[in-house]
Amino acid sequence: MSDALKIAYSAPELTKAGSLVLFIADDGHIPEAARKLIGSTATQSLKRAIEAEEFKGKARAALTVTAPHGLDVERVILIGIGGEKDRKETDYVRLGGVITGRFGAAKSVNVLFFGSADWRVDGAAASDLALGMRLRAYRFDKYQTKKREKDADRATGTVSVKIGMSAHLDAKKVAKSGESIADGVILARNLVNEPPNVLDPVEFARRASELSKLGVEITVLDEKQLAKIGMRALLGVGQGSSKESRVVIMRWNGAKAAKSTKTGPLAIIGKGVVFDTGGISIKPAGGMEDMKGDMGGAACVVGLMHALAARKAKVNVIGAIGLVENMPDGNAQRPGDIVTSLSGQTIEIINTDAEGRLVLGDVLWYVKEQFKPSLMIDLATLTGAVLVALGQDNAGLFSNDDTLSERLYAAGVATGETVWRLPLAPSYDKMIDSKFADMKNTGGRYAGSITAAQFLKRFVGETPWAHLDIAGTAMGSPESDINKSWGSGWGVRLLDRFVADYYEG
Ligand code: BES
Ligand code: MN
Ligand code: ZN
Repeated sequence: MSDALKIAYSAPELTKAGSLVLFIADDGHIPEAARKLIGSTATQSLKRAIEAEEFKGKARAALTVTAPHGLDVERVILIGIGGEKDRKETDYVRLGGVITGRFGAAKSVNVLFFGSADWRVDGAAASDLALGMRLRAYRFDKYQTKKREKDADRATGTVSVKIGMSAHLDAKKVAKSGESIADGVILARNLVNEPPNVLDPVEFARRASELSKLGVEITVLDEKQLAKIGMRALLGVGQGSSKESRVVIMRWNGAKAAKSTKTGPLAIIGKGVVFDTGGISIKPAGGMEDMKGDMGGAACVVGLMHALAARKAKVNVIGAIGLVENMPDGNAQRPGDIVTSLSGQTIEIINTDAEGRLVLGDVLWYVKEQFKPSLMIDLATLTGAVLVALGQDNAGLFSNDDTLSERLYAAGVATGETVWRLPLAPSYDKMIDSKFADMKNTGGRYAGSITAAQFLKRFVGETPWAHLDIAGTAMGSPESDINKSWGSGWGVRLLDRFVADYYEG
């Protein structure tokens, strides 16, 4: 996979770079500071190009001027930042993506990052810009042995980027946070993109265990231990697969000791179905390959733990993932089976393809009992129905706690990884009552995402809890300024922001 950007910070200066990047506001003028630096000849030739192309500096518009007169560069990339009203918080990240999309064949890029009265240029802005660049540059091409000849975005190999700005010392100080978040998103994308013959539960657990290098404490529970604990709902899903199931607990203790004893840790739980055939209730063949991404929730949890640990977040967080493969074979779980979950509640299996909730029910209960967390958030590619309800622009949010919901909503707006709340209610809960057991694992044709969430709610007790149904956002999402990858790594930026804004310090 190429993640081949080297980003450094310095004072603004003219260098002999392949590409020079300049930001243009919607007045269409080259800012004074930039004019001074590039000189009047270059300013004149750029002005002519701007006029000839009727470039208006609209937010995220771009114009490439090849080999302009008066400058020793291969190209100047003009990037629109629009007017004051266009300046949204996520813009620096997206702008980083837009810039990277215009690198062309350049091996070196000089970004002149000058601010103005209504355009903030500080360390945090630079960190966001760099984050957007890294996310846009990401490719998952490790299995493409014949190098793609024409990569529309950029040349192959490492590109060095220099961000020139007066607050470059400040930028160097905060750069680590953007880098850590980018690394976390990229880790999540790699896990989602990886094929299911490579990434089985054991290999997934091994990769999660690598977080120990960053100081994350890892516990891997194998099938023997899971059976002893009593996670029979989770084990039932994996029993038709020749691959063993695993649960991984990741612990990051970054908060000061005094604080951590007062309230329990935050707990983030992920569905990690490494491949979902549907089991005996087998899925149709068309598009089944996409079900390698049914571990997007677990991938997000691992990516988030990476980001938090790498930037040494001052918070205590438990990450927990349930890793299974849902396959049909002679030993597979049947519709009609009744399993006893870790909570003691019994579940009648109606459809073996509603497996994610069985995995999560046990992990949620385990985390609640074991760690007494102050809140739990689970992420899961749980239902096709959430795609019908919300499409690919919002994840479904379900929660028993309004404050938690509002915070997740706000972090979504701030990062562009948006969520939309859907209801929970006793009337929906009734739909999963069973004739033979305490509950059944499907609730019929209507409100599929809600009845799935009602199922999970039966495993969280009184703990403030939110469930994010990410079936529409974790994979196969439409390409964006900052993502050209099938696996999007959705949720890492959202939850990193959620933690940073409300639970650190
Ligand atoms: N992993 C699927 C949900 C899914 C669908 C994720 C499309 C990503 C894209 C889940 O395990 C599933 O199969 N859900 C069923 C539930 C049904 C049997 C009640 C569904 O959505 O059809
Ligand atoms: Mn399924
Ligand atoms: Zn599934």
